[in-house]
Amino acid sequence: MKKVIDFVKANNNRYIEELKDYLRIPSISTLPAHKKDMKTCANFVAKKLKEAGMKNVKLIPTKGNPLVYGEWLGAPGKPTVLIYGHYDVQPVDPLEEWDSDPFEPVIKDGKIWARGADDNKGQNFVHIKSVEAYMKTEKKLPLNVKFLIEGEEEVGGENIELFLKKNKKLLKCDAVLISDTSMYAPGIPTINYGLRGLTYMEVEVTGPNRDLHSGSFGGAVANPINELAKIIAKLHNKDGKVTIPNFYSKVKKLTKKEKENIKRLRFSDKKFAKELGVKELYGEKGYSTLERLWARPTLDCNGIVGGFTEEGAKTVLPSKASAKISMRLVPDQDPNEIAREFTKYVKSLAPKSIKIKVKAMHGAYPVVIPLEDPAIVAAAKATSKAFGKKTVFTREGGSIPIVVDFVQQLNAPAVLMGFGLDTDNIHSPNEHFSLDTFHLGIISSIYFFDEFSKIKRK
Ligand code: BES
Ligand code: MN
Repeated sequence: MKKVIDFVKANNNRYIEELKDYLRIPSISTLPAHKKDMKTCANFVAKKLKEAGMKNVKLIPTKGNPLVYGEWLGAPGKPTVLIYGHYDVQPVDPLEEWDSDPFEPVIKDGKIWARGADDNKGQNFVHIKSVEAYMKTEKKLPLNVKFLIEGEEEVGGENIELFLKKNKKLLKCDAVLISDTSMYAPGIPTINYGLRGLTYMEVEVTGPNRDLHSGSFGGAVANPINELAKIIAKLHNKDGKVTIPNFYSKVKKLTKKEKENIKRLRFSDKKFAKELGVKELYGEKGYSTLERLWARPTLDCNGIVGGFTEEGAKTVLPSKASAKISMRLVPDQDPNEIAREFTKYVKSLAPKSIKIKVKAMHGAYPVVIPLEDPAIVAAAKATSKAFGKKTVFTREGGSIPIVVDFVQQLNAPAVLMGFGLDTDNIHSPNEHFSLDTFHLGIISSIYFFDEFSKIKRK
């Protein structure tokens, strides 16, 4: 073990240079203009898996971006861990808010700054490098490893889902290891045991058949922006509750144990508000901040467009307005049911003076993972050893669509070993990832292989 860890230390600078190369590829999955970059990035990951000593490395074509697979199955009788990550990233807008080029990584203040540095290239690279360190020093791993890295997580991950359903044998494993979540606080080793789900909708409102002079027509016809704003405003009541019928009917309450855990974590609303630059936090009445983030569903408008948005002023009564609205879900809400309820309700709110179209975009099921699983116990031990502190257990407000499918289709626990921080600016300008954490992440991964290799298989 010492040899493996010494290798990581000795090669740390090279690892960082390689991570930079990974981050230079602008693999933005939602923008069609980046189609070619997706393939380039998949090839990059495949090359790194080969260099790390993985066998049977291949790109698996899908209807969308390719999946990258690799394996090392040289430890018969030992457990198998499937490592999942995603090589696609979010768009970089607004570009003018970045202090440096999002696709030209820079090292500053002990962090690496670029789109994808945390979410998810930095985090999945951790495991590629831990495997490499093992293979280069011991010539073998203490357990069997499979990698499955996708290129469509940020757009709902439908193709990996289809692949998983048809390839359960190939992906058979004793646990799925995923680093795509956050630590509770800097330097605090964290295992996440829950993710929220998601229903993402688009609402388009049309008024008159063309843009109109707002003087000649204002007051005579409904303005689609005004009407859309009214509809959005009706989606919450004064207590911050979502008004969609049946929205909360399947929401599970936190257990007593979870409530106690939250208490022990001593979350500071004040510190959180200060870091975000707001005077006060906001949310559903009657729940603490961590409860609202981890165990309560929400509805948020992600973007709204319509009319004249350029510099200067133009008097216009626009023909169209639209909004993207998403809902974060918790067990046992069903994203498809919620999409139907949303559609019905929003349509019912629309006055006769406008036309309304409601479209479901993508979704994800919420998930909670039992903490007693030996894989979770091994992961908690491993991260604690690497970071030199007691591991804490958290749920997350974010979503990773494929996790539920892994758990259900492979009948294996998901180990969410997060190394990010809420302050890393994922999906936002100036994304970054701590280099110390990158290093300790690799060490955690190495310890996990060791700990997990000792468990009795089911
Ligand atoms: N890494 C995130 C998920 C995440 C975010 C975990 C914050 C913990 C904290 C992941 O890449 C992501 O952004 N997922 C999307 C999924 C969606 C597009 C279906 C999300 O949560 O918005
Ligand atoms: Mn993301």
